[in-house]
Amino acid sequence: MNKPIRIALLGLGTVGSGVYKLIHRRAQEMPQIAGAPIEISHILVRNTAKERPGVDSSLLTDNWADIVNDPEVSIVVELMGGMEPAHTYIAEALKAGKNVVTANKDLIAMHGGDLLDLAAEHQCDLQFEASVAGAIPIIRPLKQCLAGNEISEIMGIVNGTTNYILTRMTQDNMEFADALAMATELGYAEADPTADIEGYDAGRKVAIMASIAFHSRVTFDDVYTEGITKIQSTDIRYARELGKAIKLLGVACNTEEGIEVRVHPMLIPASHPLATVNDAFNAVFVHGDALDDAMFMGRGAGELPTASAVMGDIIDTARNLLMGCTGRIGCTCYKNVPVKSIDDIRSKYYIRLNVENRMGVLAGVSGVLGNNGVSISQVLQKQAAGDSAELVVITDTVRERHIRDALLILENMSMVHEVSSVIRVY
Ligand code: NAP
Ligand code: HSE
Repeated sequence: MNKPIRIALLGLGTVGSGVYKLIHRRAQEMPQIAGAPIEISHILVRNTAKERPGVDSSLLTDNWADIVNDPEVSIVVELMGGMEPAHTYIAEALKAGKNVVTANKDLIAMHGGDLLDLAAEHQCDLQFEASVAGAIPIIRPLKQCLAGNEISEIMGIVNGTTNYILTRMTQDNMEFADALAMATELGYAEADPTADIEGYDAGRKVAIMASIAFHSRVTFDDVYTEGITKIQSTDIRYARELGKAIKLLGVACNTEEGIEVRVHPMLIPASHPLATVNDAFNAVFVHGDALDDAMFMGRGAGELPTASAVMGDIIDTARNLLMGCTGRIGCTCYKNVPVKSIDDIRSKYYIRLNVENRMGVLAGVSGVLGNNGVSISQVLQKQAAGDSAELVVITDTVRERHIRDALLILENMSMVHEVSSVIRVY
């Protein structure tokens, strides 16, 4: 039998504990599955005194030097999160010839390119399947199984917290604040939910997927992000009436004018496969020239689902180690495609307005839209209450900058009390 492959865990929180459990749960089978036993040599934590039931406390350390200087450790599994010291530790591990597995989307979405270069320089694996959509295999499919395709579009629900909130708003007619409170109570949303509800978490995942799918480096800074805080149950009711659902989507498209990368709420047809993905589930829809359409769906977070993806990377790295081929699949970005500004993106829009309830208002609103190159596809008007009326306009496909110009004028017209919502339509 091959001698054990020794790994170090950096972090023993939600994901680290899941990996610890899976390593022990599958220990007997590892020689057959990975080619050798996989054993944990060290676990780096902040607080070694904390009670950690079921964990061998002799493995705990708060000293990174114990790990990076241990020649027996061949895989470092970074599950601490955040930028520092994770960035430094991963770079030092690679420089020491150690392979790295990480779930850290914040880091990969900003510094993935540099770290992959470092991994290549030292012929090491740097694997990060769990950084996007938790348990769902998407990095490896994009890099390997779908490598024969020209991928033109990826569209995904890649944040479970916001999908849970939108599901509650849709199925239980809740308002955003109440649904957020419920997501917090159930442990989906973190104490500070900003990264989830403002779309930053999804933006990081979209940057990582776009880089791989389009072979061109995209960082989080390139991604336009808009969250779900302004969505109201009224919008969800109108969407239903229009045969659509509202989802927070990460969108990456490879167009002739450049790459589009954005995260924002969107009305999608109720018949679209993504519209049926509810609660905290994630899903990624991919279009390739040979593949046509495919959708990957599953749990995007949580202890064991995320550990499942981390374990897959550990086992793959172990196999590469045993075959002497670590570093076989490194960075696949060989192009330098520009990223389009959000102003140049084209979409249809849903615009909900609270307007004066009198003759000529509809003509005034449509005049402003028309003068700015925005053509109208559909208008709904109801709930006229006294002096006010609610107007919903669905536009044809227009450039973002034309919508912005029109909205600026509408917002300043006396006949328009309020532009209540503006949401893109698929
Ligand atoms: P977590 O529960 O907050 O755990 C973090 C762990 O890292 C803790 O054990 C902590 O030590 C340790 N740690 C943090 N900073 C450290 C430092 N400076 N030195 C040593 N140890 C340190 O985090 P998590 O939810 O497991 O997330 C880990 C990573 O997985 C993140 O990159 C996250 O984005 C990613 N991820 C998480 C999920 C999920 O469902 N949670 C899903 C996908 C990806 P103590 O125990 O001593 O505090
Ligand atoms: N906070 C993320 C979500 C999980 O709600 O999907 C970690 O990526």
